[in-house]
Amino acid sequence: MNNTPKLSSLIFESPPKAQIILPGKELPSPMPYFGIWNDDAEAFLKTLPREPIFDLIVSSPPYNIGKSYEKRSKLSTYLQWQERIIDELIPRLKNTGSICWQVGNFVDNGHIVPLDIEFAPIFKKHKLQMRNRIIWHFGHGLHSKRRFSGRYETVMWYTKSDDYIFNLDDVRVPAKYPGKKHFKGPKAGQHSGNPLGKNPEDFWPEDVWDIPNVKSNHIEKTEHPCQFPVGLIERLVLATTNAGGLVFDPFAGVASAGVAAAIHECRFIGCELIH
Ligand SMILES: C[S@@+](CC[C@H](N)C(=O)[O-])C[C@H]1O[C@@H](n2cnc3c(N)ncnc32)[C@H](O)[C@@H]1O
Repeated sequence: MNNTPKLSSLIFESPPKAQIILPGKELPSPMPYFGIWNDDAEAFLKTLPREPIFDLIVSSPPYNIGKSYEKRSKLSTYLQWQERIIDELIPRLKNTGSICWQVGNFVDNGHIVPLDIEFAPIFKKHKLQMRNRIIWHFGHGLHSKRRFSGRYETVMWYTKSDDYIFNLDDVRVPAKYPGKKHFKGPKAGQHSGNPLGKNPEDFWPEDVWDIPNVKSNHIEKTEHPCQFPVGLIERLVLATTNAGGLVFDPFAGVASAGVAAAIHECRFIGCELIH
């Protein structure tokens, strides 16, 4: 296998092409507009030049809780593996880019370890700047008998520099009170809201997103046990990339992040073990 493709081979062709990239063969050149590496993420990253190519890295890694697609290990072993992946990712993120790491809880013998707390030092080591810790609130899940049932997970959004893309106007939603005006002071009578709408929100405050998770009757449901709702990733893609940007998900599952990228004219590469 040629392990050192030229960066030019990563500049994708248009119109879009989708391709499964099989390990053991040379990386296609140029890479497809939309590609899935059908094997281990760490192995894939090692085939790439250590150059900043990704505009957005967005992923929900295995949580080490014994799902069908993962082998449960000691928390420290899991975190060391994740750290190796993140160490490979950061040099490949553009200076204007973002990384969004979506995590829930590791559960050990009935007690929870919120994974964002465990991941924070890894991102800090890389001197990334946290812009938001988004609470993704959803309606369905297991009913816990000995603690409150978990109904949210977090998206840790980091940027590599202060020169990051943030397209706020692309992710505004219509204001709750569109015609609202100042009723006193020097601006009395003038519209108080932004005519383009307010920040994205489903309820206040704005870093709390209420988006249904993909459970049995959800229209996007496949055989995968833990898909992203496409809408969650669409919001991140719109806010943090421009059209033509390259989105990468090292733990792509059924490529929900790829669907979100394609809807918004971005390119996508994912890694996934499931054949
Ligand atoms: C939480 S799921 C992600 C689901 C995805 N966000 C979606 O929308 O379908 C984690 C995924 O990582 C995959 N995975 C586990 N270990 C992996 C590895 N070493 N390399 C690549 N993918 C892996 C699992 O098979 C699983 O599909």
